Amino acid sequence: MNRPLTVAVAGCGSRGQDTYTKILLEMPEKAKIVAAADINPEKLEGMRKLTGIPESACYASAEEMLAQPRLADLMLICTPDRCHYSQAKAALLLDYDLLLEKPIAPTADQCSELRDIANERGRKVAVCHVLRYTVFYQKIRELIASGIIGDVMNMQAIEQVCYWHQAHSFVRGNWRNEGLSSCMILQKCCHDMDILLWLCGKHCKRVSSFGSLSHFREDRAPEGSGTRCMDCGIAETCPYNAVRFYLDEFHRTGDEWPQNVVAFEPTEEKLLAALKDGPYGRCVYHCDNDVVDHQVVNLELEDGATVNFTMTAFTAHGGRTLRVGGTMGELYCDMKANTIRVMPYGKEDEVIDVRKLASDFSGHGGGDARMVREFVDLVRGETGISSTMTSIDRSVESHLVALAAEESRLHGGEMIELA
Ligand SMILES: NC(=O)c1ccc[n+]([C@@H]2O[C@H](COP(=O)([O-])OP(=O)(O)OC[C@H]3O[C@@H](n4cnc5c(N)ncnc54)[C@H](O)[C@@H]3O)[C@@H](O)[C@H]2O)c1
Repeated sequence: MNRPLTVAVAGCGSRGQDTYTKILLEMPEKAKIVAAADINPEKLEGMRKLTGIPESACYASAEEMLAQPRLADLMLICTPDRCHYSQAKAALLLDYDLLLEKPIAPTADQCSELRDIANERGRKVAVCHVLRYTVFYQKIRELIASGIIGDVMNMQAIEQVCYWHQAHSFVRGNWRNEGLSSCMILQKCCHDMDILLWLCGKHCKRVSSFGSLSHFREDRAPEGSGTRCMDCGIAETCPYNAVRFYLDEFHRTGDEWPQNVVAFEPTEEKLLAALKDGPYGRCVYHCDNDVVDHQVVNLELEDGATVNFTMTAFTAHGGRTLRVGGTMGELYCDMKANTIRVMPYGKEDEVIDVRKLASDFSGHGGGDARMVREFVDLVRGETGISSTMTSIDRSVESHLVALAAEESRLHGGEMIELA
């Protein structure tokens, strides 16, 4: 392709605008944003200013943008989970290639249908499993493939969501309620199901799971608590106090996220107003949340290898850890510390400091930018599909495993066979 790839962005929030648009703006010779849609006029205006697209290329919804003839080569679908299926389907029928945020769709049938449409129409669709593109997981995969730990027999992975992140996104925020998004194990952990299977290169045979929403419920509200943090009698001693989260702690870190989710272009005044009346000022024990706050999943793989995965809100800090047990050695991997301990049996351990292997670890450990660059090159016809690429064909398995885990959880841990 001897011109920049044209791109339309559906959903100009945290992923669509703050992440992918900013990455694309750094590669003007390869890609150019030509249209955008958001139902929030402030965010749409922010996008117009950021990209310089004309007002005539700004649409009041993805549906309105999709009612036009095809406007670009590639569409980014970065709207809330429940919008993905219908918008991706419409976009595929207009022959867009797609960078599709996870989850593909909330049900197995919808995931498979989108995969089939993409294949029938010969469209390129990448699902945003950004972990695959991190140096950290690529190094783990390389180590496993090198044979240094022999055959993988067992993996134990923990996703530490962290107490405040759970409160922000999964109790007060956009992913709190399955009906508005999807079940926790799909929306949050399809990444984990994808990465675990990709790392060992095996398919999943059967699944069982337990978990529940145990803590962030009305009947767990401490005595003296109110319905909003700003007028709560015990706010001073509550670890989930939203005023402390958004005005004191995060203010000090200088990070944009997550205050920019609470208020667009946040100032102290805007944050206070949002905490007074908006969803992020609610007491964590008095929200309309229903997604689980902890869940364990057991997988049996095709060759009998086993995987145990835990997702939990109840951790002081966020991050993923992974232990990989092989027939000839073991790996212990800590994504937050960015270290991999390689322990070949009967030999000296070696600790790999992943920070020394690359310079950019911003945005999911550097995965966001690497994924966008690789997919843009693929759509431009400059590269083929790499082993990292999370094409929709490859991504569907992670979704089917996550949905099977949810089915098991809802049926008291019943074993679910995968075809
Ligand atoms: N790959 C990852 O690691 C990762 C990380 C976070 C979020 N996500 C996924 O990305 C998606 C977006 O998440 P986010 O954090 O950017 O959320 P967000 O709320 O910041 O952004 C979503 C945007 O979509 C807009 N929107 C809603 N309905 C729309 C419609 N019909 N047409 C056009 N715009 C519409 C909203 O106004 C909002 O600006 C979600 O599906 C989420 O699960 C993926």
